[in-house]
Amino acid sequence: MSSRKREEKNTSPWGGRFQKSLDKKAETFTASLSFDRRLAAEDIQGSKIHCRMLVKTGIISTQEGDLILKGLEEIEQELSRGEFTPDPALEDIHMNIEKKLIDKIGTVGGKLHTGRSRNDQVALDMHLFVKREITEVEKLLHALQKTILTLAREQREVIMPGYTHLQRAQPVLFSHHLMAYFWMLQRDRERFMDSFQRADLMPLGAGAISGTSFPIDREYLCSELDFKKMYENSMDAVSDRDFVLEFLSDSAFLMMHLSRLSEELVLWSSQEFSFVELGDAFSTGSSMMPQKKNPDVPELVRAKTGRVYGNLLSLLTVLKGLPLTYNKDMQEDKEPLFDTVDTVKDVLSLYNELLRDMKLHKDKLQNAVKGDYATATELADYLALRGVPFREAHHAVGKLVRYCLDREMWLTELTTEEAGAFHPLLGEVEALENIKPEEAIKGKNSRGGTSPQALEKQMELASEILMQRLEE
Ligand code: ARG
Repeated sequence: MSSRKREEKNTSPWGGRFQKSLDKKAETFTASLSFDRRLAAEDIQGSKIHCRMLVKTGIISTQEGDLILKGLEEIEQELSRGEFTPDPALEDIHMNIEKKLIDKIGTVGGKLHTGRSRNDQVALDMHLFVKREITEVEKLLHALQKTILTLAREQREVIMPGYTHLQRAQPVLFSHHLMAYFWMLQRDRERFMDSFQRADLMPLGAGAISGTSFPIDREYLCSELDFKKMYENSMDAVSDRDFVLEFLSDSAFLMMHLSRLSEELVLWSSQEFSFVELGDAFSTGSSMMPQKKNPDVPELVRAKTGRVYGNLLSLLTVLKGLPLTYNKDMQEDKEPLFDTVDTVKDVLSLYNELLRDMKLHKDKLQNAVKGDYATATELADYLALRGVPFREAHHAVGKLVRYCLDREMWLTELTTEEAGAFHPLLGEVEALENIKPEEAIKGKNSRGGTSPQALEKQMELASEILMQRLEE
């Protein structure tokens, strides 16, 4: 009996209190190593500074600190060479690194965890990770905005139909349409940068929940780890995952925007529209129908928006109803975050290339504007500008459009006599000049409008916004 008990001895760091080892299935179920190994670099970075602080405050000796730092650096090198093989029995990356340290330098390695708990350690790693990823995503967003601006500049002559209800509404410049996405991405970028402030909070020193009785120096930790502020409440520090949620929510907005762009690219590259052609490098064919060229990339961007929304919902649900402070539930914050980071970064860099590689069918765009009634508003405005109440003007032009539809002709084919029959002012030569798409566009000169002049201003402003950031 006593020998069996010895066999069952629990060898985990908390083994002292336990008589049995963790059930194998429960071990696999509770482990996070398979995904949190991604935090290894952050974990070592945090541990090194924590160790320096322990030396600085005299909590451990300089010799002990030197040994620990040397051990951590060796582990860091092993990691970068891909030689670090963690032990799955050790639950997570944090326990693995600690165990490795102790294997390397002996029991003194156990002193690293003085005044610290895995709860504040994990929180710190997550903060470091999110801060770094915000910077990465910001760079990719900036690059994509730059590409959009460049394309808008190159294509500034091209006119296309603007849509409401997916019905042709009014002619616009293609660049104006494209620039709408520039501003969406600008708001996304601002959202990420704003969230950075909430990620820039240092949790270390909170211990497991209540702080620590060791004379630690949190100000030192804060400045050495490059944080602007620290948590002022230890219980908040170990319970908070708002900064992760914000990253997931910013990403959900971003994906929603890119999904709208994707939907347009899918439509525009269809034979029905034929406004654009995606490059061969970003399309696939059909294994059965030889003529096909499929817009797989935009389709998948549209679809992957679903998992990014799902990741946000999943973490919101995990956190909802959790009592303070740390609960194992919070281990489930990592996979949604990592998956979102990977998805968003892939999508941003792919779209940067895809847009540059996309061909515009200018003739198709131009023809689409000619072959419709999208300048009917111009005629109504023409009358209204000359004192005709807009409702009356709208009615007269509506009848004129009906007349054209019945005769299967375009507005541009009308003679002054025909038009004049619907309202004397419509019979003026000038009135019919107004229905040329180029003229209609020139007229939309209000700030933020689609006239070439207003577009120039818009693009200048956009370019200043991109520059400002580089100067900072
Ligand atoms: N693997 C855990 C996580 O990611 C580490 C924190 C464990 N803390 C604890 N008190 N069990 O959340």
